[in-house]
Amino acid sequence: MSALADGPVRYGLTQEQRDLRDMVRELAVGRIAPRAAAIDAAGEFPQDVRQLLAEHDVLALPFAEAYGGTGTGTLMTVVAIEEIAKACASSALILAVHDLGTLPIRIDGSDELKARVLPKYAAGEWLAAFALSEPDAGSDAGALRTNAVAVDGGWRLNGAKNWITNAGVAGAYVVFAVTDGAAPPSRGMTAFLVEADAPGFAVAKLEHKMGMRGSPTGQLTFDDVFVPDGNVIGSVGDGFKVAMRTLDRSRLGIAAQALGIAQGATDYAAAYARERTAFGKPINQLQAIQFKLADMETRTAAARELLYRAAAKADHDEPDLGKYSAMAKLFCSDTAMDVTVEAVQVLGGYGYVTEYPVERMMRDAKLTQIYEGTNEIQRVVVGRSLR
Ligand code: CAA
Repeated sequence: MSALADGPVRYGLTQEQRDLRDMVRELAVGRIAPRAAAIDAAGEFPQDVRQLLAEHDVLALPFAEAYGGTGTGTLMTVVAIEEIAKACASSALILAVHDLGTLPIRIDGSDELKARVLPKYAAGEWLAAFALSEPDAGSDAGALRTNAVAVDGGWRLNGAKNWITNAGVAGAYVVFAVTDGAAPPSRGMTAFLVEADAPGFAVAKLEHKMGMRGSPTGQLTFDDVFVPDGNVIGSVGDGFKVAMRTLDRSRLGIAAQALGIAQGATDYAAAYARERTAFGKPINQLQAIQFKLADMETRTAAARELLYRAAAKADHDEPDLGKYSAMAKLFCSDTAMDVTVEAVQVLGGYGYVTEYPVERMMRDAKLTQIYEGTNEIQRVVVGRSLR
């Protein structure tokens, strides 16, 4: 049965959530936007923004009240990521990965593990990270080689992970490793929480990226790292499904980041076109520019509706969430890419130089089509749901 046949899922923000959104918007406009260009130029993780988000309980948004969170749900987290991304995509990724890297624990972790670690994340004491991808296992997430062998009281992990966001700044890493001893693709894997100070764990390399430069991406290595039984997430052997259940929800965060980039670029281009004159009038009175801005605004608004609907499905545990989050991630990120390319065009030469923010937005948008499952993988997920 199609989703629409079930009737529309209702969504909206309560007054408390609207107040929260306004607070995040104020932080983004007043405190984060003025830092965005410098964060990009330096290519360094903004510890000051992390601190700001922690102090204002923005990092508590993904968590239930029982663990020190705001208990305000997925749609609220999505809206907050969108607001921050309008100003600075790298800063928005701090919250998006906080969601991604704690979802395995929130969905599948034991009560003991949740009580022990979630309050540290909610307080912003720990940042999160999700370590699934490997040098030879990206889209094909079942082809992992990092392995874990059972020992007295826990497990010993060996291997390497690639493209890991928050490498070097996370307090702990959710790491997926093969536990059935079979050759890949075995999917007999398990999820573990590896604390950053575990002996044998190292950040071997940090990448130099085209965009999202304020967010560290790196390679992790595990050399006989001991992980106690209490840090196993979910059942032994169930790791692939832990990862898939997580991505079904976390992709909403990347969609929100992409949406924020698209809206930020549209707003900037529209404001520029009001001021910039050519042929004796503001360029927003020229149809060539007007139509571009109209398409940018329309596509961004459509992306928002799809994303908010998908987020509401997460909040209502709807069975077609996976399909909707894949569609939202696909549509929002393609929108961000197209819209930011057009924003650069509206600004002309000014769009191509670092003095103006739209070239940064264009570089940042590209990554949203790649990580948390390439858009080709999102099409696989959607396509399979139609079989
Ligand atoms: N929820 C629960 N279970 C699921 C599931 C889901 N969404 N999707 C699949 N499964 C189950 C299947 O039912 C199946 O179970 P059984 O073995 O019991 O039958 C099992 O998992 C295997 O499923 P598939 O055969 O469908 O698996 P597949 O190998 O064909 O892979 C895929 C499916 C969708 C392509 C998956 O590999 C995938 O999502 N790949 C992309 C990985 C990805 O997104 N990586 C991003 C890394 S994170 C990142 O980028 C973060 C960052 O730093 C910001």
